[in-house]
Amino acid sequence: MSMLLHPTFIAPFIRIGDWLQHESAPGSCMFKHTHGQTLWEMADGDAAFNEIVNDGMASDSLFVMDILVREHGEVFKGIGSLVDVAGGNGTAAKAIARAFPEVKCSVMELAHVVQDAADRGGGDGGVEVEFVAGDMFESVPPADAVFLKNELIFK
Ligand SMILES: C[S@@+](CC[C@H](N)C(=O)[O-])C[C@H]1O[C@@H](n2cnc3c(N)ncnc32)[C@H](O)[C@@H]1O
Repeated sequence: MSMLLHPTFIAPFIRIGDWLQHESAPGSCMFKHTHGQTLWEMADGDAAFNEIVNDGMASDSLFVMDILVREHGEVFKGIGSLVDVAGGNGTAAKAIARAFPEVKCSVMELAHVVQDAADRGGGDGGVEVEFVAGDMFESVPPADAVFLKNELIFK
């Protein structure tokens, strides 16, 4: 709720009529139309906002991943390695690593998110995942499986 009801998130919806009537350049989104930069660019330049976004996504993962590994854990069976592409602060990857210790989990994320995760440290009951900084539109680290959560809406 702190993320979704943040004034920065609400503002683009207030201007949605203007955005719909605007002849947008390819790739221009509501957020950029209102704020002049993408959500991820803003998070990169504003540590407090970055924390709100990463915490919001982690809250979603804490809720969803518990159900996923319990109800559909079979999808992770037989996998040696997994990369959570754009995996936020690693909450989802850590849930997988905790439930399936035989799966080597890594998280690929933008550098400012990796830095935020490093600054805040582990504190996840000894579960370790590797973080890789990068741009998923350039390349993705090799692994047996790619995990995408809340991602296909982007670009
Ligand atoms: C909606 S969040 C989803 C985070 C996570 N997958 C989850 O479900 O909790 C989108 C994530 O994509 C990341 N992201 C955006 N553009 C990216 C890019 N070009 N390469 C890698 N990660 C990116 C953001 O930093 C953000 O953490």
